[in-house]
Formats: sequence, structure tokens, C-alpha cells
Amino acid sequence: MKQKIYITRKLPDYIVEAYSKDYEIKMWDKAETPVPREVLLKEVQEVDALFSTLSEQIDRELFEAGKNLKIVSNLAVGFDNIDLEVAKEFGVPVTNTPDVLTETTADLTFALLMATARRLIEGYEIIQEDKWGDWAPFMLAGADIHHKTIGIVGMGRIGEAVAKRAKGFNMNILYHNRSRKADFETVVEADYKEFDELIEEADFVVSLLPLTKETKQKFNKKAFKKMKETAIFINASRGGVVNETDLYDALVAGEIHAAGLDVFESEPIKSDHPLATLKNVVALPHIGSATVETREAMINLCFKNIVAVLSGKQPLTEI
Ligand code: DGY
Repeated sequence: MKQKIYITRKLPDYIVEAYSKDYEIKMWDKAETPVPREVLLKEVQEVDALFSTLSEQIDRELFEAGKNLKIVSNLAVGFDNIDLEVAKEFGVPVTNTPDVLTETTADLTFALLMATARRLIEGYEIIQEDKWGDWAPFMLAGADIHHKTIGIVGMGRIGEAVAKRAKGFNMNILYHNRSRKADFETVVEADYKEFDELIEEADFVVSLLPLTKETKQKFNKKAFKKMKETAIFINASRGGVVNETDLYDALVAGEIHAAGLDVFESEPIKSDHPLATLKNVVALPHIGSATVETREAMINLCFKNIVAVLSGKQPLTEI
């Protein structure tokens, strides 16, 4: 009898087909909408492997339901939706998708930084709304990026890839991380800073922090007050690392200049979300790793982890 896999989102058949001759695969039938919790709890009872996304809470209730579960393979590098302690208690390995999305997410992070600094969305809107009048010296005048100081908070793989891009723009690079990365510092000439020093000195404060108990709402009123009035805040990690009310207040009060946000505390957001109503915010719908090539690579890595575990081998990228 074939082992069973449940996938919590509709994925392209051309990828899934390659695995369906060896496994019995069932998929939630919608690409844009998460599987309802009650359906997930029912489906997981039957399966050997769960292929999940960041929309599902993988918690005690789920592990209790998944009596035959041998692996949870999560389609993301971040894993704040998964209770790893409970997974360990139940002896179920959990995997994520590092490396394959690093460069793609760094591209988006830098694109968001550039779009925010150079007011690209406002420029697009001016044309769409037929508001382009005569040339004016300071029309849509933004902030320079080159030779400015970038402060990267969370120097993991994606942070390093963003730092390399910043180096190409002749930026001065500061970083803060749980541990110092002396070797990498020399590669891009980056300076390690304490968090408070970094946010005081940086022109661009870029959050690439994972969401944990320690990082929850790390960017709050106190932090925004310490930043320069000209600072641009970029978040491409998880919305939960920011106190969104404090960010909104700081932007409205002019305590910081602008923000570029790919992630929000509770996703999806609508156009009436306070942060999305501000002209000095570029808001994106969590598309950091969203390229066709990278999503295909992430999906294949999830499957490879499942195949490894279901054939008695070690997973490739266990958390
Ligand atoms: C991740 O991988 O954690 C992204 O946020 C989702 O693509």
C-alpha cells in the first residue's frame, strides 16, 4: 500500500505528478485559500506526511490527530507557525526550505528598500491617476540609497545576501545578530553593532529577524524613537516582530521617514489597514520568495524531505 501525503494547498500538477506514482497524494483543492482547520484535522488522521504552509498552525491538537504522522514538511524558511517542542515530544521531524529562497528573498528585500526610498509606487499612481503635471524640482524626490548606511537586523543567510547587494550600492553596512559573524564581516566590510546603536545610526533599518518570543514586537515605540527622522524601515521577515500601532504612530508623527513592508502581523491585510493607508508606506502581500523558480525549488525540497523520511532516511533540512 502506498504511503499517504496530504498537501494543504493546491500545487501545480506538473510538480506533484512526479511524486504521485510512489505516494498516495491528496491536496486541498484551492491555491489561494488555506485549508479549513477542521478539514486539516480530519485529513491529517490518515497520512504519513503533511506538506504544510505558513498558513497552518502546527500544534499539539494537530500532532494528536496525526497518529501516523512521520514528518511535517513546511513550505517556508520561517517556522513560527509550528510548535517545535510539541513536534519533538511526538517524535515527528519538521523541515523547512532554507537556501533555495535566499537570493530571491534578498532581491525582494532590496527591491522593497529601493521602491520605498525612491517612491516608485507613488510614481506609478501619479500616472495611473493622470496627475503628472509640469516638471517640478522636488516632484517625488526620494532618498538616496548609494553611500547611505544600512543596518541589517538578523544576519542569517538572507541578511548576508542583502548585505552583498548593499555592498554593490557602496553602502556602509551595519548588522546586529545573536552571534557575530567575523568571517562575513570582512567579506562585505560590515560592522557589528548592538541593536540600539544600529537603529540610531542606520539610514535603512532592515528587519530579517525570525519571529520568536525574544523578537516579538522588537520594533516598538522605543525603537522607532531611537531611529533617525530620515530613517526608512524595511520588514521582510515576519509582521510579528513589529508593533504595528507604534510603527503607524512613528510614521504619522514623522519620527521616521517611511516604511517598506512585505509582512504583517495578521495576514492578509486589506487596503483599510492603517499602515496601507499611508503614502510613505510601500505595502506588499508577503511575496519575498515568490518567483516561479524559487517556489518550484521550495516545493521540490519539501517533497525531497518527505521522500527521505518515508524511506527511512534523514531529512535534508530538518529544523
Ligand atoms: C518564508 O519562507 O518564511 C517566507 O516568508 C514564505 O515564503
